[in-house]
Amino acid sequence: MNILSPSILSADFWRLGEQIRLLEQCKVPYLHIDVMDGLFVPSISYGMPVIASLRKRTELFFDVHLMIERPERYVKEFAESGADLINFHLEASDQVEETIRAIRSYGKKAGITIKPNTPAKAVEPYLGLVDMVLVMTVEPGFGGQKLIPECLDKVTQVRRMVEERGLPTDIQVDGGIAADNVELAVRAGANVIVAGSAVFKNDICANVRELLQKMNG
Ligand code: DX5
Ligand code: ZN
Repeated sequence: MNILSPSILSADFWRLGEQIRLLEQCKVPYLHIDVMDGLFVPSISYGMPVIASLRKRTELFFDVHLMIERPERYVKEFAESGADLINFHLEASDQVEETIRAIRSYGKKAGITIKPNTPAKAVEPYLGLVDMVLVMTVEPGFGGQKLIPECLDKVTQVRRMVEERGLPTDIQVDGGIAADNVELAVRAGANVIVAGSAVFKNDICANVRELLQKMNG
């Protein structure tokens, strides 16, 4: 069963709680929470206080995608604010292994992410240490962009590496995923699917149903 992780970056923040309740009602298990610092990516989104206030109200699995420089500085804060998985960019840290270990030391799942121009083999040294690899399918920073098809080849490469090692690692895709291309992402080897604008437009539950049907057949 592939997992859908809706990105709240595309939510209506006036109605965020209400929209999260809808996701719960349509049986979505994960929430993808994008944290941007205005340095690693041009935009700034939200951080610990928002996560902490959501954490008090929902049991959904918090899949936190850090798009911040030197994520090692904030592992404790995100762990304590209620993340279940903390995912950071390889390009943003020169202490990758230490950061993964720090995330685990708080009992959280750890993930590493690569941008479109970072080769798949960059994740290889860390495969045995992480729960998830996120292969970005757009340049990180904004919702609503178009998927870069070449990135799906990297998904397949990472899937192969993981299988060769017999690892249970999840492979996530993020950026430009919608009902018309989610099958391609799954076929390429992804099993955790992020979707922002494709979920938070018009009828949220209808969008979720359509995506799940395409993802899981
Ligand atoms: C982009 C973020 C994504 C974003 C995806 O940097 O990491 O999670 O919300 O949005 P869509 O699905 O609209 O491309
Ligand atoms: Zn994201």
